[in-house]
Amino acid sequence: MKKLIEEHRKKFGNFEVIEFVDEQEITSLRDQINVDVPMELHWTWEYGSEVEELRNLYEKGKVNQWNAETDLDWSTPVSKDEWVLKPEGSMMAQMCKLMGKDEATQKAAAFDELGYTLSQLLHGEQAALQLCGQLTNVCEKMDEKWYAASQVIDEARHIEAISKFIQRKMGTIYPIGPTLKVLLDGLLEADTAQKKTLGMQCLFEGMAVGIFDFMRQESANDLFGTMLRRVEQDEARHAAFGVLTMRRVVREAEPEQLEEMEEFAFEILEALNANQQLDMLALLGPKYGLDPHNVVMAATSMPNFAEFNSLMYMHTVMPNLKSLGLVTERTEQQYRDLGILWGKQRQEMPADGFGTIPIA
Ligand SMILES: [Fe+2]
Ligand SMILES: [Fe+2]
Repeated sequence: MKKLIEEHRKKFGNFEVIEFVDEQEITSLRDQINVDVPMELHWTWEYGSEVEELRNLYEKGKVNQWNAETDLDWSTPVSKDEWVLKPEGSMMAQMCKLMGKDEATQKAAAFDELGYTLSQLLHGEQAALQLCGQLTNVCEKMDEKWYAASQVIDEARHIEAISKFIQRKMGTIYPIGPTLKVLLDGLLEADTAQKKTLGMQCLFEGMAVGIFDFMRQESANDLFGTMLRRVEQDEARHAAFGVLTMRRVVREAEPEQLEEMEEFAFEILEALNANQQLDMLALLGPKYGLDPHNVVMAATSMPNFAEFNSLMYMHTVMPNLKSLGLVTERTEQQYRDLGILWGKQRQEMPADGFGTIPIA
């Protein structure tokens, strides 16, 4: 994973991006649908509850199940000619507006961008499903196995809801972005429960909570908003599992193990951030006369870049990492330099460790 990422780095002014441009390479990354994963498997003969907080989370998950087919009103229309997300919620719409394009074009660009973003979230949901399936094997305690199993059905439901939304209401499921594919494969291939939990449950789930919450707030469509609210409530439970589990891991870890975890988290978030939507812009930009490099150069060199770039990270991921002690003086400044952390000092971030979404 690391090597592949390193090969695709380049400088845009002061900002280092990760960009895949070779179509053949991108296609072959997507065609790698068989992934070799070294898996541990643990039996346990302790069937009683050992980790009460996880048992509680499992119980909450049972009570809050929902049905993607019947609990959402699929008769609600969704149209390219109406805003699904408010215009402020779409980077492509804003760019088109700046270039003086008419409102119909802005709406079309926003619709395409949303389709692309949802498609990436959908592929991420598939990775979460597979990773949680792995957790039922690699976890050692029955509470963890039960919880992971309950998350598997949540993720199946998210795949169901989002794929139906795209197919029924939007039309196109876009292929997975190459940077995302490399990172998700890296987590699925990771050899310890620790890395899988930190990477998927804390980082990716935390990012998902931030993105879903942002889109829900900007939603201008009832079906879309309701679907997001439902998914988000499940994701908050998932992010909570990540934090609760990692808290126990961190408590027992040696200083060098902590350092390794801090580094691992930093590498993943840095790589995610380094793509700066280039994968999306390469696909959709030309259709609207947007040059991907110019867009990213302009965005990353703006004086207030960090302020808006950090929004998704400051929502859930960074407070959670901070509460786990996995953002220290070692990485804080690096996060700030990359526009992942902004404003608040580490000490001022919320300490509950779950971000801002209450767990239902
Ligand atoms: Fe999910
Ligand atoms: Fe999830």
